[in-house]
Amino acid sequence: MKVIDLRSDTVTKPTPAMREAIFKAEVGDDVFGDDPTVNRLEELAADLLGKEAALFVAAGTQGNLLSVMAHCQRGEEFIAGSQSHLFRWEAGGSCVLGSAYPQPIDAEKDGTLDLDKVKKAIKPDDSHFAVTKLLAIENTHGGKALPLDYLERASAFAKAHRLSTHLDGARLFNAAIASGASAKEIARHFDSVMFCLSKGLGAPVGSMVCASRDFIAKARRLRKMVGGGMRQAGILAAAGIYALENNLERLAEDHRNAARLAEGLSQIEALNGKVQVHTNMVFVSVGLAGKSGIPSFMKSKGITILASDTLRLVTHLDVSSQDVETVLQAFKEFYSSDEWIEEQIGSGHSVY
Ligand SMILES: Cc1ncc(COP(=O)(O)O)c(C=O)c1O
Repeated sequence: MKVIDLRSDTVTKPTPAMREAIFKAEVGDDVFGDDPTVNRLEELAADLLGKEAALFVAAGTQGNLLSVMAHCQRGEEFIAGSQSHLFRWEAGGSCVLGSAYPQPIDAEKDGTLDLDKVKKAIKPDDSHFAVTKLLAIENTHGGKALPLDYLERASAFAKAHRLSTHLDGARLFNAAIASGASAKEIARHFDSVMFCLSKGLGAPVGSMVCASRDFIAKARRLRKMVGGGMRQAGILAAAGIYALENNLERLAEDHRNAARLAEGLSQIEALNGKVQVHTNMVFVSVGLAGKSGIPSFMKSKGITILASDTLRLVTHLDVSSQDVETVLQAFKEFYSSDEWIEEQIGSGHSVY
């Protein structure tokens, strides 16, 4: 039975064509700058984002870490969303390894950081405080593509307050499709941008940091420091090139699949009003049933989801429109199953 894995878009596996590109990759020692495939990927990424240079890194986490380290000296502060990956999900690396001090701010409903709140978080020139240096924004955030005019305002705001800017664009190309802009138009508002090859773009490993030549030279030294200098990395870079040349536009298909999934789930009476969709992510408030009832039922149908009272279902390269129909059928079955009805009666809820 095919497993439909909706946990994340990180689960994609290289296609035969991508494996072929990996197989044929010309390689060299990238720490000496000799790997032609890595060099080509870095040029391609810089070009796509309209930046002077780019650096191939092992993961998005490493790209964010190196960027914070390149922006902030020891003890300087960065402002980021309290639920952002950079602040919350990277094992505190920016503090532990980068000695940068985080100032988290709760994001608004649309995923933006309110600039008045950011302003209040910027520290005055006073020896009690860390020096605020960097504004880090995530796009997409929780699947939400941030409005282009917000990016413009955030960038002008940062300049006015002498903050540098970093974009965690792990899913930059999803954001670009959703906002009808090019990746370049989004990237131009930021001094540095990280994007991932290993999410919806389908590469097995790797992310890119794109910025000015000087910034990338700094990041390259820091990459070496954290043990991220990879040798014949062209093997991996070839998958990245393949992804950028073949898988950008098809992300729109993931968005359409997510929209269809959301629409079908909303038609289940028990889920009406409890479904949201942003780019390739569908969020469903299911309450306690999401802790184990739904995940184990789905598992029995060959569908893998993460347990949570708000389910996050992510569409990607390995989820077809037919798979979406299979998932919808499974949810319909769950919500008409004896197990669910008994659970509702047992908990004193009306069935719908
Ligand atoms: C928004 C965001 N930034 C950064 C990362 C880190 O990427 P990686 O898993 O490659 O370290 C992720 C991973 O899920 C992410 O969702």
